[in-house]
Amino acid sequence: MNIKDPAEILRQAAWKEIQRLELELYVADLDANGFTVIPPSIASPGDLHKRLLARILDLSEEDSGVRPDLVAGENPVAFKGSELVKAEDDAPFGQYIPSLIFEGPAFEEALLNPVLLAMSTYLCGFSAVLSSMSCFVKGPTRSALQLHADTFLPAPMPAHALLCNGTYVLTEFNRENGATAFVPGSHKFQRQPREEERFLTGQNANSNAVASEAAPGSLVFWHGNTWHGAFNRTVPGLRVSMPVLMARPSMRTEEDLFGKIPQAVLDRNPARFAVLTQQGIVNGWHSKEHSKLRPAQAREVMRKFYEEVDLPNADADIPLYG
Ligand SMILES: [Fe+2]
Repeated sequence: MNIKDPAEILRQAAWKEIQRLELELYVADLDANGFTVIPPSIASPGDLHKRLLARILDLSEEDSGVRPDLVAGENPVAFKGSELVKAEDDAPFGQYIPSLIFEGPAFEEALLNPVLLAMSTYLCGFSAVLSSMSCFVKGPTRSALQLHADTFLPAPMPAHALLCNGTYVLTEFNRENGATAFVPGSHKFQRQPREEERFLTGQNANSNAVASEAAPGSLVFWHGNTWHGAFNRTVPGLRVSMPVLMARPSMRTEEDLFGKIPQAVLDRNPARFAVLTQQGIVNGWHSKEHSKLRPAQAREVMRKFYEEVDLPNADADIPLYG
């Protein structure tokens, strides 16, 4: 093995960080099952989850006009397409609040959480970007969110992860609370579930699906190929979760953040924050002039990051043209 190979140096650096944070067993679990649950003591330093939940409850109220009641509340507002619908419509997503990265320092901290970054880097590399940061506030429903993989590509999907998801659990996850469901080992199938394999409730429910059990403050982390969904909540009250979807920079992201993050926000964070928020993505120009400007800006962002962490910029994700 040539240890001067930049890719090998990056791999070793990623593993060293996993060891420093004592995440080896969670990585083994992720490799074997396609998902893992990292407990609050590791995943939410300084009670990060409490600050995220407090801010999300405010945002939920701003959106719906109703203060969420975690103990007895019902689906506050749900989106179906672009239309607001009420709880009785039984939407399995509940209230969806997107683009949280613009909502203040707690969300920036959630993105920079070393545990989230170590796991994301393990699956998607140092150049991984945020695809979306959002939350769901969900009450009791009859319908479950059907099983699917987040990697929407024709089979066979690549075995390596193009996406990964780190979901902050902000209220307790278990079957009756409407926890995220997983089919253990399904990241190795390299395909979406077939229609008849997608159900979580009823006679045709997929018997291989299990509920993730997690205390508030846990991080549930999974490979982009893993089949997952959400059980319907059968008890009163609200379930609040905050998915952080990460992607390799060559993937089309859910949120388009290049050039959209205020300079003050970039300035108060380390160089990796700019990479994570897509400022290092070269592709996406829209004119002759921009085809020169954007790659130059993006390369500078990547250069600063690799300099900050003292690692080689392998340039693997950066096209040679432009
Ligand atoms: Fe999903």
